[in-house]
Amino acid sequence: MSQFDKNSTTDDVLAGKDLSGKTVFVTGGNSGLGQETSRAMAAKGAHVVLAGRDQAKLDAAVAAIREDVPDANLDTIICDLGSLDSVRACGKEANERFDKIDLLINNAGVMACPLGHTKDGFEMQFGTNHLGHFVLTKYLIPLVEKGEDKRIVNLSSRGHHFEGVDYDDVNFENREYAPFVSYGQSKTANVQFTVGLEQRFADKGIHAYAVHPGGIQTNLGRHLTEEDMEFLRDRMRKSAEAAGEPPESAWKTIPQGAATQCWAATADELEGKGGVYCEDCHVAEQDDESRTGGVRSYAIDPENANKLWALSEQMTGESYG
Ligand SMILES: NC(=O)c1ccc[n+]([C@@H]2O[C@H](COP(=O)([O-])OP(=O)(O)OC[C@H]3O[C@@H](n4cnc5c(N)ncnc54)[C@H](OP(=O)(O)O)[C@@H]3O)[C@@H](O)[C@H]2O)c1
Repeated sequence: MSQFDKNSTTDDVLAGKDLSGKTVFVTGGNSGLGQETSRAMAAKGAHVVLAGRDQAKLDAAVAAIREDVPDANLDTIICDLGSLDSVRACGKEANERFDKIDLLINNAGVMACPLGHTKDGFEMQFGTNHLGHFVLTKYLIPLVEKGEDKRIVNLSSRGHHFEGVDYDDVNFENREYAPFVSYGQSKTANVQFTVGLEQRFADKGIHAYAVHPGGIQTNLGRHLTEEDMEFLRDRMRKSAEAAGEPPESAWKTIPQGAATQCWAATADELEGKGGVYCEDCHVAEQDDESRTGGVRSYAIDPENANKLWALSEQMTGESYG
């Protein structure tokens, strides 16, 4: 049983850890949970590579982190997950610039945006949140193999409860687009990708963990209407009620929100135990659909993970070999 809970912060879960000599690669390192993860790990001595699609935003994040951690060992790299050319270029550049990656944190994401498409024509949320990370991870796996810790953390969400993956129509070509159905599909894909990585790489000592960070006010809500916000607030109120907690406890601060990904990346008790979905700094139970937390069975089903893997290879033309 983890000694941490939903109130634990990044600094709490990393207390006593020495990350000097480790290289941590964080997608979406320029904002919200990714920036806080980068700050907290840099404060423990890690060399942190912040990946993002906008150099000015990356530079601003580096400056903000250095205000808190003046001697932070930080690098930046451009990676637009909405363009496979950019993802491949990032992967190749990373292999030239860095010797290894100990911890890969696939954190970047978009939520509930209007219908849109990536440069390769994939529906925006599935393309960015899943396919971009699927290809990036393929290119970075050789560096992870050279790392000591060999952990991959994929940011999912309780939003995976909204929907499984429609393997016949991930791009919403034959069904009406709904922003949260699409978000749910992409966040389920993040869990199934985690299971797929564990199936394929555990024997090489690489382990993967999916994480729901909690409900945190970040830039993720940039596309939400007032109606969407009320829908989310209502879900969070109900979750708090079900847990016998006051409604205001439903929201986490950014350091509390980023704690579970820092925990999944570093907790000793998770060593060798990947393929799981974590929330509130513990491994979640498989949900019986009556509870507000937990992981849905369709998200951790190994057959579904295989279907997603095959589809992702076919859509991107990238095979892990
Ligand atoms: N906040 C929550 O309540 C919550 C709940 C559940 C799950 N999550 C998950 O937590 C993760 C982090 O979210 P956050 O709350 O920290 O949101 P955030 O502040 O909006 O950060 C998201 C990051 O993803 C990056 N990103 C988006 N599209 C990208 C692209 N095409 N290429 C490269 N980077 C891209 C953003 O870059 P730009 O700044 O350039 O847009 C930003 O750095 C997401 O995967 C999200 O689904 C968050």
